[in-house]
Amino acid sequence: MAAWMDGARDDPEPCKESDRGKFEVVARDGRARIGKIHTAHGVLETPALLPVINPNIRTIEPREMWDRYGIQGLITNSYIIWKHEDLKQHAVEKGVHDLINFPGVIMTDSGTFQSYVYGDVEVGVEEIVEFQRSIGVDIATMLDVFSRPDMSEDEVLQAVQTTIERCEASILAAQDTMLNGPIQGGIHRHLRKQSARGMGQFDFAVHPIGGIVPIMEQHRYKDLAKIMLATIGELPPERPRHMFGCGHPMLFSMLIALGADLFDSAAYALFARDDRLLSPQGTYRLSDLHAWPELVPCVVHWTPEGVRKLKQEERTKLLARYNLEVTLAELSRCKQAVHDGTIWQLAEHRSHQHPALREAFLWLTTRPFTSSVSSDLLDDLVQDDRAAARDYHPSGGIWEQDWSEVVNKQATQRKKGERWGGEDTLSRPHILVAREQLQHRWKPASSGPTDVLVLNGKPGPWRQRCDLLVLRLKHVLPDLEILVQTPLGLLPYSLEDLNPFAQVDGPSWLWKRRINTVLLRQELQRLHIDADRVLILDIGADSLIQEASNLFIKHGLLEEEIRVDDAALPELRDALRRQQILDKLVVCSNVGYEEAASIIDSCTYIIGGTGRVKNVIDKNGTHILSPRLTDGGLSITDMGSKILYNRRTVPVDKEGQHQPTSGFGQGPAVLMVQQDAVEFVLRGRNVFYGFIVACDPWLKAGQTCFIVDEHGALIGHGLAQCDADEALRFRKGIAVRTRSDFSKTFK
Ligand code: GUN
Repeated sequence: MAAWMDGARDDPEPCKESDRGKFEVVARDGRARIGKIHTAHGVLETPALLPVINPNIRTIEPREMWDRYGIQGLITNSYIIWKHEDLKQHAVEKGVHDLINFPGVIMTDSGTFQSYVYGDVEVGVEEIVEFQRSIGVDIATMLDVFSRPDMSEDEVLQAVQTTIERCEASILAAQDTMLNGPIQGGIHRHLRKQSARGMGQFDFAVHPIGGIVPIMEQHRYKDLAKIMLATIGELPPERPRHMFGCGHPMLFSMLIALGADLFDSAAYALFARDDRLLSPQGTYRLSDLHAWPELVPCVVHWTPEGVRKLKQEERTKLLARYNLEVTLAELSRCKQAVHDGTIWQLAEHRSHQHPALREAFLWLTTRPFTSSVSSDLLDDLVQDDRAAARDYHPSGGIWEQDWSEVVNKQATQRKKGERWGGEDTLSRPHILVAREQLQHRWKPASSGPTDVLVLNGKPGPWRQRCDLLVLRLKHVLPDLEILVQTPLGLLPYSLEDLNPFAQVDGPSWLWKRRINTVLLRQELQRLHIDADRVLILDIGADSLIQEASNLFIKHGLLEEEIRVDDAALPELRDALRRQQILDKLVVCSNVGYEEAASIIDSCTYIIGGTGRVKNVIDKNGTHILSPRLTDGGLSITDMGSKILYNRRTVPVDKEGQHQPTSGFGQGPAVLMVQQDAVEFVLRGRNVFYGFIVACDPWLKAGQTCFIVDEHGALIGHGLAQCDADEALRFRKGIAVRTRSDFSKTFK
């Protein structure tokens, strides 16, 4: 018995019959997702790598993949099985799982790749799908037409159209077997979109992105990124997306961040045959190595020198294991990053491993991002080679939309500090979206020309250092607009603890950088501040009030030192607290200023030990809101949700005809559920997909939403796990994590 057999794993449990073929998303970070594909041979957790098994040459035994490496699914080629009589007979008689000796999920390809390599295949469109079904594969593939990057546009169009024409017959032939519907389209944005839209109409279980092998072989990673941008947004979101023939670990993080769920590759074995080693840092040659780039279990007792002396077959097997272990480790890293909300940072990190990957990354992140307001958010902060990268690749605007879709998928406030990673930090999608949300929703107190004070020079929290100064200034100069300069941009002082701006984890010089006044004025404009005089105060100074006084006197705003009677302070402090809650309601909860003010005006506060507002109490003595320490956001109580929901003026769009609106000022998005889910939600149970009737177009994963019944009555609130385009389409999993329990609150 081989050593790895000691750790033999049980065979998988089949999924519930009613779940077969469903894809469930259990965690997400923007477009990246952690999911589960439910099959008769167990659950395949994504993102996953399906190693390619050649039924004739097994470099690593599939059983070992299951037992030792915990691999839940693999891919093999039905055309090869079909062509070889002995394999075919075995598969037809005993099934493909027996032929391959693998108890998990088996995906098969159809022979398309062989037709790309050898020119043609002699199998029929229905025939190959029927064959795959007859041998019991879990996920079969239709016979698509491979689109090469060197084909003319007309030829690619032909490939796209012929593939779509074959769908109906393929779907019929597959019966209840899950089927892959590959997306073709070469490097043409419109053809990728046409293919994705056309294929998405049919009842496929998975959509592989095809025709990318030559693009990856030529390191055309920018084209690969473009293909992802063009395609993913057009596909039904409830289906997994597979990267056909992609298995280089260096690419995983970027592709996962752009929406890939599955990978397959023979690279682990093919590279091993050439004495090459895969790694997230790139590829290494065995001949160059003195030490292992990654010390994975299979080589702990080996040196590269020792492996070089092995006979070819043994060496290939060991290096294939090495490649597989390294690949699985990177995939695991990516999964954790999705859970942590840092997949983009990992992609950013990996982008430095290969010049072509860096080019792709910079191309992506220098796309101007547009949302409901048009803005070019990078302009005011970025001064380095990223600006050059954008100028070098004038986009003509067409890619903005695709990139904006990726960016807009991001949750804004997070519970963790933002690690500074150089100028790249500024173009992380969740930072872009947080800045956009602030600039779109927040408004200064005065719409006319205002003097502005920018506090600069120290990281937050700013209140201990600056509160007294701010209160006094508000007394002597009530119209003065005060903001903090953070490494992520300007932050109104009333929002001084808002994530991510207030929680940047980086060297202290980040807060001391010289401010470019031209860019500063541009950013003030984006915040709708009609700035008159702009003063910058270094808050690193010891005697802050004195320094501020000197500055204001020097600029003629004051004639003498700032002095305020202590008796005036409580009222000033109250006004600041009121402003803080007001601005948070507007920025974090999408409430309009007028509505927010009319709610807050009559409220009182319970103050915590640190002098901060703990609870907001309305005029009837009801606790309605609490500022959150973790991210500077607001938690809404059950009572609070009723009060906010009552302010809403637009109906929920029951027809599902989403107007492209941000729902500006309409409060948290609303999700309407079927009547049979109501009693559960009222008792605080989560909302599951399949029970949703309608939702607002501005519903967004990671944000608070309100839950209503079919008559529009509020029955709860919670944290949305999906966006509007997903709410009505997914069939399994949690759509809203309910935070309320109306059965207790409103007994
Ligand atoms: N394997 C690698 N690329 C492709 C593709 O475009 N289609 C299919 N069916 N298999 C592939």
